[in-house]
Amino acid sequence: MFPEMREKYTTTMAPSESTPLLRVVDVAPQRHRYPHHKLRRFCTFSLGMLLITSLILFLLPSAVFPREHGSIWSYFPGAHPFPHKSWPHGYGLSYEELQAILQTTPSAEKAREWSSYYTAGPHLAGKNLSQAIWTQERWQEFGVEETSIVAYDVYLNYPLDHRLALLKKTKDKTEITFEASLEEDVLDEDHTSGLPDRVPTFHGYSASGNVTASFVYVNYGSYDDYQDLINANVSLAGKIAIAKYGHIFRGLKVMRAQELGMVGVILYDDPQQDGEITEDNGYKAYPDGPARNPSAVQRGSTLFLSIAPGDPTTPGWPSKPGCDRVDPRNLIPSIPSIPISYKEAIPLLKALNGYGPKASDFGKSWQGGKLGSKGVEYNIGPSPNDVVINLYNEQKYTTTPLWNVIGVIKGAIPDEVVILGNHRDAWIAGGAGDPNSGSAVLNEVVRSFGKALKAGWKPLRTIVFASWDGEEYGLLGSTEWVEDQLPWLSKANVAYLNVDVAASGTVLGPKASPLLNNVIYEVTGLVQSPNQTVKGQTVRDVWNGHIGTMGSGSDFTAFQDFAGVASFDLGFSRGPTDPVYHYHSNYDSFDWMDRFGDPGWLYHEACTKLWSLAAAKLVETPVLSLSASDYGVGLGQYLKNIKPGAEHLPGGGFDFGSLDGAIAEFQAAAKQFDAYAADLASQLDEDLPWYLWWKKVKLYFQARVVNDKYKALERAFLYEPGLDGRSWFKHVVFAPGLWTGYSGATYPGLVESFDAGDWENAQKWRSIIIERLEAATKVLQ
Ligand SMILES: *[C@@H]1O[C@H](CO)[C@@H](O)[C@H](O)[C@H]1NC(C)=O
Ligand SMILES: *[C@@H]1O[C@H](CO)[C@@H](O)[C@H](O)[C@H]1NC(C)=O
Ligand SMILES: *[C@@H]1O[C@H](CO)[C@@H](O)[C@H](O)[C@H]1NC(C)=O
Ligand SMILES: *[C@@H]1O[C@H](CO)[C@@H](O)[C@H](O)[C@H]1NC(C)=O
Ligand SMILES: [Zn+2]
Repeated sequence: MFPEMREKYTTTMAPSESTPLLRVVDVAPQRHRYPHHKLRRFCTFSLGMLLITSLILFLLPSAVFPREHGSIWSYFPGAHPFPHKSWPHGYGLSYEELQAILQTTPSAEKAREWSSYYTAGPHLAGKNLSQAIWTQERWQEFGVEETSIVAYDVYLNYPLDHRLALLKKTKDKTEITFEASLEEDVLDEDHTSGLPDRVPTFHGYSASGNVTASFVYVNYGSYDDYQDLINANVSLAGKIAIAKYGHIFRGLKVMRAQELGMVGVILYDDPQQDGEITEDNGYKAYPDGPARNPSAVQRGSTLFLSIAPGDPTTPGWPSKPGCDRVDPRNLIPSIPSIPISYKEAIPLLKALNGYGPKASDFGKSWQGGKLGSKGVEYNIGPSPNDVVINLYNEQKYTTTPLWNVIGVIKGAIPDEVVILGNHRDAWIAGGAGDPNSGSAVLNEVVRSFGKALKAGWKPLRTIVFASWDGEEYGLLGSTEWVEDQLPWLSKANVAYLNVDVAASGTVLGPKASPLLNNVIYEVTGLVQSPNQTVKGQTVRDVWNGHIGTMGSGSDFTAFQDFAGVASFDLGFSRGPTDPVYHYHSNYDSFDWMDRFGDPGWLYHEACTKLWSLAAAKLVETPVLSLSASDYGVGLGQYLKNIKPGAEHLPGGGFDFGSLDGAIAEFQAAAKQFDAYAADLASQLDEDLPWYLWWKKVKLYFQARVVNDKYKALERAFLYEPGLDGRSWFKHVVFAPGLWTGYSGATYPGLVESFDAGDWENAQKWRSIIIERLEAATKVLQ
């Protein structure tokens, strides 16, 4: 204390017990540190409110609102995160207006006009650049701004020379009993059958060779047919096989013959496959009637398609100039083969009469050959040592460019893409059915969408049109393109819609990933049937409703089985009473189509509508119209179908319980997911009041997430190491049958293990499939 203060205490008040220890000390009134306290209070309040608002706007929404594909700013009033200004409705055109254009634009006459162009001259893979350019020019005219010709350098063969003769050897000379022409008749009524530059009869990827040997009739040349012959002690090694076309892909007939040490293969079309419509039944043959012309020859590829499609020197990567190439020997035959007509098969088969067992001694699949009336007894042979065939086949192998035409209509959402494809190349100058009915239809599809563009439409999703080259040799153009574009396709491709033969008859025969079943059912109900036996009948009304499983045999293969893109394949094919379709023959021509195949060109028109309406559905609906539930049903059905195969395992008793369980879980998740998606779609149908602006944003982001999941679902079934012995095929549910090639094998890893009686491998595949099923289930959760 200071002395003055001490004095003050002592003089003014004597301390007592009640004297407070601290006395009140007067001080100057406190001065406000901040003079404007009202302003300060206001500031504090505002800052507080701002903090709370921010909390609501930032923290709460980021916890509650979905915003994948967008930022939180999207939720601010006035923000516009939508792909285009009229989302969820169509931009420029309503969905109904777009459908109306797609229903009214396609014309039978136009399809006929496009067909007459494509079928006027040869267009074997890599041989007709002008058709690629012409196609590109048409698409540009129709209004597709982005078009290109995409080339790949592929390894393939062109025919040089061939001979097939039946020889009788005597002691000192060899006599020619029959010399095959290996030509199809030139018909006055069929103007491309006699073109000077018409394509010879030959097999794609056939080996060159000159063999002379006795021969054996091997029925269809399926794995089981050869096995029947082995069991019957028929000697096969060193012989030439003569087989009917049908049942399995032709290359696999040659593949098995080669494995069994046979030296050559001859393939022909037996009238058996023509059902009722045969000359024996009184029908006249083309060009006078609907039956098969006896000189018709089916060309075709003998690539080992079920091992890997595409350029056999670049399995798994694109055939770009200068790329690495491998020896193709595991994918193409090393023995020669030749296709012939049934007319020219008769002398060969008759030469077997009386030798070896008869087809009638074998099982059901061996019965039914229709050349009995021509004196063929369908003996197996082998022919005696002095009755031999000389088969000479000379092919030029080369690496040559081919040309895909690609057209793009950019959609408002860049990473959701729907692709429509058809191949352009044919084995013959014609190809009015395979593939140019599809090419004519594709042009009509492009023209229809072009019309919508000119009316101001902008699609929600991107549409890509593809005119593939080199399909016939082994899906070359599409496979190389998919291998080339894989990263982008994996990210963006929602679906691939294939049409190969659009019209070769009157019966609709779709195949699809079950994700797309819904779309097929819907669009078939929208299109009028070309044959109105009852007025107003739709395609759906006259179709049996069956959708096949995806195998191979056309350009969807690389999309579905390699890239995991949900795909379908559609077209009208021959029914039992339709005229015989001369597949891969000179008579698959414009004249045949115009008189027998689709005289009014109405099946072309109907196929155009089915295809473009399916595309529109997938491109325009805000929530993708796919069905995971149908996939679930399919998965269950496929498993049920293959269960009996487990009996091939020694001891039997394979436990399917865990697979059944995984499928059940997938089915439950799929049902829930579809219901959620349907609910979103119906919420989008309702008009929201303006003050619920943020709700539309929320729905948009939710739809994007749902669409991502639908897109990813098919990918989840890919198993990167691939199937046993054919690693190019990655899908654990769908693959071409190893020994059928065309038809779809389901759960191929498991089925092949059963067939091989291999327990350990079956267990391995059970685990792999369950793992993929769980991954797919997780996508949906
Ligand atoms: C290419 O196709 C066109 C149209 O079909 C045909 O006129 C032309 O002859 C073909 N060109 C070649 C080189 O074969
Ligand atoms: C094929 O081989 C035979 C001998 O086996 C021979 O006589 C014939 O000239 C050969 N044909 C050709 C076209 O080289
Ligand atoms: C095939 O040959 C084996 C051994 O030579 C014989 O046991 C079997 O009975 C023969 N089978 C037929 C169908 O001839
Ligand atoms: C239409 O269908 C009916 C019944 O299937 C059939 O008898 C008729 O021949 C068909 N007509 C045409 C033009 O295809
Ligand atoms: Zn085709």
